[in-house]
Order: sequence, then C-alpha cells, then structure tokens
Amino acid sequence: MYKQIFNKYSPEKENLIYILHEIQDNHPQQYISEDAVTEVSEYINVPRAHIYGVLTFYTMFSTKPRGKNIIRLCESPPCFLKGSENILKKLRETLDLGLNKTTKDGMFTLELCACLGVCGNAPVMMINEDVYGNLTEDKIDTIINKIKGEAK
Ligand code: FES
Repeated sequence: MYKQIFNKYSPEKENLIYILHEIQDNHPQQYISEDAVTEVSEYINVPRAHIYGVLTFYTMFSTKPRGKNIIRLCESPPCFLKGSENILKKLRETLDLGLNKTTKDGMFTLELCACLGVCGNAPVMMINEDVYGNLTEDKIDTIINKIKGEAK
C-alpha cells in the first residue's frame, strides 16, 4: 500500500522519520494507522515498538485519525504570557471542540504544541503549514470562517 513511498527511500533506520512523515501527510486523515506501522516495520526491519516509540516522541505524529485542518496552538511560556490560554478557550468555543479532538465534520483537529519559533508574534498557532501570529479572539473568528468558507 505504501510502495510508492517506500520506493523513494532505502530501507534504513535513518529514513524512518521521512517515511512516517510522508505516510502521514498522504493520509486524508493525517495519521499513521496500525497497518502502516506494520508495513514500515517490515520494510525497514525494525520492531513495531520502536516505531511507536518514535511516533509518541514526536508530537507532530498522530496514531489517531485527525481533521483536514490541524490547529496547533503554541503553549510555551512566551505565548502563554501573551494570552494563549484565552485563544485556546476561544478556539474551543468557536469549534465546539475539546483538546486533541476532531470536529464531527472532520474539518478541524485542535492540538497544543511547543514553541513554533516565532515568539515575537506571540500568541501563535499553526493551521497545517500556515502560521498565524499576534492572535486575538476576533482574529480566531476571521481565520476559522475563512477556512470554512474556502471549504465550500
Ligand atoms: S513560545 Fe510560542 S512561538 Fe515561541
């Protein structure tokens, strides 16, 4: 099933992270399934437990199905001091969503993350590959409505 991805990488442990990234990025629900772990384990010849160790160590990986848009709100101190907690509350209200959960329509998943490296714009979040800084509660409405509008 992952032949196309495996063809790009030799079966070496050093390529594990790259392979996992590609599998996750290419899955419509942006996660790594048990089947994928088994196939990667056989391809690289590493135990499944080792792969799960990698998947749990790096927060960007998920072993659960996620939404089309993954929101990662920074919870590190500079963002926290600039009000990330209020932003989280606003996101939860706007999307009617718990942390690490996905909306029923599969549109959004809400996660927290560590520093995104743009603390000068705190509070900051990423949605997929896009970074949004200097967040306010009003900006959250605008951003979420824009993404919902684009999906129509
Ligand atoms: S602390 Fe949030 S981006 Fe650095």
